[in-house]
Amino acid sequence: MFKIISSLVILLLLTIFYKKCNSHYSSSQVILITNIDDARRILIDSDLLSRAIANQGLKKAFQISNPFTNPNENYRKEFLKVLHKTIDFDNNKWQRFANIALETVKNEKVLKTGFIELVPWVQKITLITVLRGSLRFDANVYEVIDDVPKLINDIWLKSKQYDKNQESIQQSMRLLKNKIYNASLMSQSKDENIIVIQEISKIAHKHLNDIQELPQLTSGFINPTKDELETPLNIIIPTYETMWRVLLYAILEIKVREILLIKNNSKMKKNNHLKNLNNSIDNFLKNPSYSTLKTNSLNLIVKETLRLYPATRSIFRTCNEIKYKIDVEGIHRDFKTWGDDSLRFKPERFEKPYTSYSYIPFSVGKMKCAAADKFAPTVAAILIAAVLSSVDIVDVVDNEAIQKYQKNPDLPFENHRLAFDKMIINLTTLSK
Ligand code: HEM
Ligand SMILES: *[C@@H]1O[C@H](CO)[C@@H](O)[C@H](O)[C@H]1NC(C)=O
Ligand SMILES: *[C@@H]1O[C@H](CO)[C@@H](O)[C@H](O)[C@H]1NC(C)=O
Ligand SMILES: *[C@@H]1O[C@H](CO)[C@@H](O)[C@H](O)[C@H]1NC(C)=O
Ligand SMILES: *[C@@H]1O[C@H](CO)[C@@H](O)[C@H](O)[C@H]1NC(C)=O
Repeated sequence: MFKIISSLVILLLLTIFYKKCNSHYSSSQVILITNIDDARRILIDSDLLSRAIANQGLKKAFQISNPFTNPNENYRKEFLKVLHKTIDFDNNKWQRFANIALETVKNEKVLKTGFIELVPWVQKITLITVLRGSLRFDANVYEVIDDVPKLINDIWLKSKQYDKNQESIQQSMRLLKNKIYNASLMSQSKDENIIVIQEISKIAHKHLNDIQELPQLTSGFINPTKDELETPLNIIIPTYETMWRVLLYAILEIKVREILLIKNNSKMKKNNHLKNLNNSIDNFLKNPSYSTLKTNSLNLIVKETLRLYPATRSIFRTCNEIKYKIDVEGIHRDFKTWGDDSLRFKPERFEKPYTSYSYIPFSVGKMKCAAADKFAPTVAAILIAAVLSSVDIVDVVDNEAIQKYQKNPDLPFENHRLAFDKMIINLTTLSK
């Protein structure tokens, strides 16, 4: 009975949302959206302001002002224009990107064999590859980048309780900014390609005034400062923060799951895509690009990784004093849509003609991810290919972080920030 009433209430609220988003006052009331129809309706009908308000926590913690946190439409248009120009890679640029990824994995500052912590290793590879490969931070990133993932992690976690941690967040932020600033000073890119970071900062300058004229009716919104508009984190966060998670969960499913099954003495039921992955990776790396990816198993692996472990687990909108939390992960794992085996990593499910209706890793509508169509999947595939072709994970340390998966080898891996903090793997190089 309660369920029916609460469904009706939600339906009513959704209808109101659908009709009009009158005010954007923030509030503490949160409605969880687990139904794909409702999710799509909210995502398609909501506006920039309802996103920006919902994401003010991000603005506060990382002191960023990008389309996620800033509702100005002109600024967003230019931001996206710069971004699209720079992620529209031809084959040569993809080759360069893949070479950087491979170089990074093998770099002595990244590659330590033996027992290592999985997560920081994955974060380092991702950060250096995207900084050099797509954001054109070129020289010497290794010198200053050791601490950046740790700082971002730290700020992210503390931001959940911003008020309590304000001072230490600000301290970490100062350090983070310094590190990135230092890296950018060393990146005097020699080619004529534009450096994304500098372009973003330029348009921020240009729009400084109109950006600051924000709707009066808005509470909970604080105007961005010049620093916030100019920070390279505006673009580093959306790029890096999503990509390292994709790489992590692909590695967990492809490599770690296998080890866990062996430790459990389970019979392995490896699917064909994983069995032939070596060949797929070789083929992909010969000509890394989106058009190669489309017909390669890695494409299915990336899709399935983003289904079971969406890098953006929830998408938020605030409207009519309600914060809507769209449960992307829940929608992606719903057995009614995805079948009894919805919790299993099964790349081949994307082989069959499937309905993409219930699949929203990049959101939908006019504010969907700017990199969704080609760039993000290809970057993910290159990172995965670079790692799996260069190194092997031969063991995981038997500790808390993995015991429960060993006891129940079919469990999906947890998809929250600290879940694999303590995971230690034994890494070896593959001689080629
Ligand atoms: C697999 C990796 C990625 C995932 C899962 C992902 C996911 C998303 C999602 C869910 C949104 C919508 C957020 C919202 O409306 O609240 C979004 C927006 C966006 N993403 Fe991504 N993203 C990924 C990679 C990237 C990369 C690599 C870039 C930059 C090169 C990027 C740039 C953006 C931008 C600029 C927006 C805002 C778009 C707009 O306002 O029109 N994303 N992303
Ligand atoms: C990691 O695995 C390799 C290869 O199986 C093995 O030789 C090495 O001793 C292991 N390292 C550690 C620290 O156990
Ligand atoms: C940035 O570089 C300067 C000059 O090399 C150095 O003194 C400073 O410690 C660096 N800052 C950080 C946070 O690494
Ligand atoms: C893929 O390559 C790795 C490393 O060379 C090897 O251990 C593994 O057996 C290969 N898998 C297949 C299916 O060939
Ligand atoms: C293997 O998994 C089963 C459940 O499928 C569990 O009961 C058992 O304890 C696990 N074995 C080991 C060695 O962890």
